[in-house]
Amino acid sequence: MLLVNIGILGLGTVGGGVVNVLNKNQKQIIRRSGNNINVTHAAVRDITQTRICPTKNIKLTQDPFQIVNNDDISVVLELMGGVGLAKNLIEQAIKNGKHVVTANKALIATYGNELLALAKDYNTHLLFEAAVAGGIPILKSLKDGLSANQIELVAGIINGTSNFILTEMHNKDRNFQDALKEAKALGYAEANPTFDVEGIDTAHKLAILASMAFGCELQFNQITTEGISNISSEDITYATKLGYTIKHIGIAKKLNDKLQMHVRPTLVPTTHLLSNVNGVMNGILIKGNAVGETLYYGAGAGDEATASSVIADLIDIIRNTANHDIFGWKSLINITKCNTNSIA
Ligand code: NAP
Ligand code: HSE
Repeated sequence: MLLVNIGILGLGTVGGGVVNVLNKNQKQIIRRSGNNINVTHAAVRDITQTRICPTKNIKLTQDPFQIVNNDDISVVLELMGGVGLAKNLIEQAIKNGKHVVTANKALIATYGNELLALAKDYNTHLLFEAAVAGGIPILKSLKDGLSANQIELVAGIINGTSNFILTEMHNKDRNFQDALKEAKALGYAEANPTFDVEGIDTAHKLAILASMAFGCELQFNQITTEGISNISSEDITYATKLGYTIKHIGIAKKLNDKLQMHVRPTLVPTTHLLSNVNGVMNGILIKGNAVGETLYYGAGAGDEATASSVIADLIDIIRNTANHDIFGWKSLINITKCNTNSIA
């Protein structure tokens, strides 16, 4: 049995959750990965801050490049967020032959095409299950469980913060700002919560889902996006009276060979399953031409739920079962853009 050294970039909500889950499920994780896992280093901004996880055996550094350039580290977990420094660090890690796991949907949606190509060139893995729908293994389901299908539709509540806010407004008559404040305190919101409430985070995740589902390049900038910040208490009252729930939904579907993608507040009949996906939970409906409709439900954000997906990727890498060709690129030979047709 080998000892695999891990370096973590960021020890906040998700990074702290990863350390805690690695500790609490150590035996199972070692058995399933076939190797011992040791978190040796973690990069943070503030070394003196109290963490949600124990740090006694982890060397903390304020210089994340110390981690990606450390020869003893085999796998880097990028859990700090942002698209500038995080991109440089991941590139450097890949060029140093390290495997990378990230929860950073903004980075993958924006630079995923080039980062995946780089990882392929350097024969390393770059995995990002936690980037979409927190703890729901939705990318693995698309890649493995639904691989016999042509996907016709992906529709989902994939932002925990906006769903939490809408649920609080519907069920507890709370106002928008108050509910957002609580979502921030619970660790659900992005560093910039505008991403959550204006639909940008949902669009990042939808771009990744659509790429995986329809086997084409990531096309984040083709998504028409509308947030929930203009939803008022009156909107909620009228929707309820008419038998609907307002949900913030991202949809990608094929129509006449064109891919349509949009994110917007949507009236969902109260009898529909997605209408009952509440709080921080996410729900994703996927329709395949063989299986029909399938529905995936679970925590879309939070420390240990997100850690569950990060560690599943880590175990895949250590078992060496991860597929470099994550979007089916090899089988498409020359991957091209899907024709898109943005709808307002
Ligand atoms: P967070 O709680 O703010 O943690 C970020 C961590 O990165 C902190 O430990 C911070 O250090 C560290 N960091 C930031 N900039 C740094 C720098 N320049 N040098 C060194 N360390 C730096 O964020 P999070 O909620 O865990 O999110 C991390 C990533 O996961 C983001 O990409 C996010 O979109 C994604 N994600 C989050 C969730 C969730 O539920 N929160 C779910 C899925 C995906 P300090 O602690 O010292 O400030
Ligand atoms: N801010 C994100 C959300 C975190 O609320 O869904 C999980 O990706």
